[in-house]
Amino acid sequence: MIENDLFLRACRREPVERIPVWYMRQAGRYQPDYREVRKKYSLIEICEHPEVCAQVTLSPVQQLGVDAAILFSDIMVPIGAMGLAFDIQKDHGPVIEQPLRQANDIERLKPIDPESDLPYVFETIKILTRELKVPLIGFSGAPFTLASYMIEGGPSRDYLRTKALMYGEPKLWYMLMDRLGDMVITYLRAQVQAGASAIQIFDSWVGSLAPDDYAEYVLPTMQRIFTQLSDLHVPRIYFGVTTGELLTTFVKTGADVFGVDWRVPIRSARARVGRNVAIQGNLDPAVLFAPWAEVQRRAEAIIDMGIEQPGFIFNLGHGVFPATSVEQLQRLTSFVHTYSERALRG
Ligand code: CP3
Repeated sequence: MIENDLFLRACRREPVERIPVWYMRQAGRYQPDYREVRKKYSLIEICEHPEVCAQVTLSPVQQLGVDAAILFSDIMVPIGAMGLAFDIQKDHGPVIEQPLRQANDIERLKPIDPESDLPYVFETIKILTRELKVPLIGFSGAPFTLASYMIEGGPSRDYLRTKALMYGEPKLWYMLMDRLGDMVITYLRAQVQAGASAIQIFDSWVGSLAPDDYAEYVLPTMQRIFTQLSDLHVPRIYFGVTTGELLTTFVKTGADVFGVDWRVPIRSARARVGRNVAIQGNLDPAVLFAPWAEVQRRAEAIIDMGIEQPGFIFNLGHGVFPATSVEQLQRLTSFVHTYSERALRG
């Protein structure tokens, strides 16, 4: 039962008495208890054990006092169900055994049947919706970002093979976008049906594209995804890194909330996306390594801009780094609450 719906109200641009806050990667290696769990289970094994996965998801909510939980999983989880084997390597990221190289590899990708392919995901969500007093955010990777791993075979700096396919073989590219788009729609719909109260689509690496290329090669798929998920009536969040120049085009996706990183000030982000959507962000997670006074100064500046209009959710601009101190995040969370509550009372 949700007792604290601040996050959902902020997503809908309704009035709030304080600014809601949660963090990308709020469950992870910066937590001693997560490191303990990881001694016994790999990342994927955590996901496959609903009781363990639910506890990992709950732990930052209890420890930090954040206003939303995010399902513990990884963007690669449904890619396995499409028939592409992957591994997540320590301090590196996802690695695909046989990256997509030709038409045949893309044609072979299977549509997913969420409940039978990934039953543990929905079992975890069901446990969480019973236990949580804050909303649960379900998530998926976005087609471009997933395609970048599937084509490159792992993390990449320049996305050369991805862009070679996109620019050089657009028919194949759109086939891949279609398959991934179908997967994202099916997967997120099933997460909401199991109990997720909001969804976030991580397009972490799409900021590597020029706006015109984004509009041509990615936007149609994102429009289709957000349109087809609109009947779920849950907030739909779209996040990417270095997307400042893409924001005006992002609005056309139809998402309800846009997540931005620290490279674009909240006020500029708002000016670019307009008044009909909410904004989420955007403290540089590296700032958490500075003394508290500096963290506070920067959090204040973000909140001051955030409260200028309804529809603001405090977050980091990207995920929590593994070396972050738990105390610093606890302090930040309660600071966002107390400072914004005072500021909103005026
Ligand atoms: O608390 C949460 O945010 C929920 C869990 C979550 C994970 N991955 C767990 C995880 C979420 C939302 C993700 C999304 C994800 N995974 C993204 C999009 C968000 C982003 O950070 O841009 C991407 C690009 C991935 C792919 C991925 N998985 C990377 C780049 C890495 C990091 C590699 C490393 O070791 O630093 C992973 C591994 C991963 N996924 C960890 C966690 C907590 C690292 C810890 C571990 O291996 O136990």
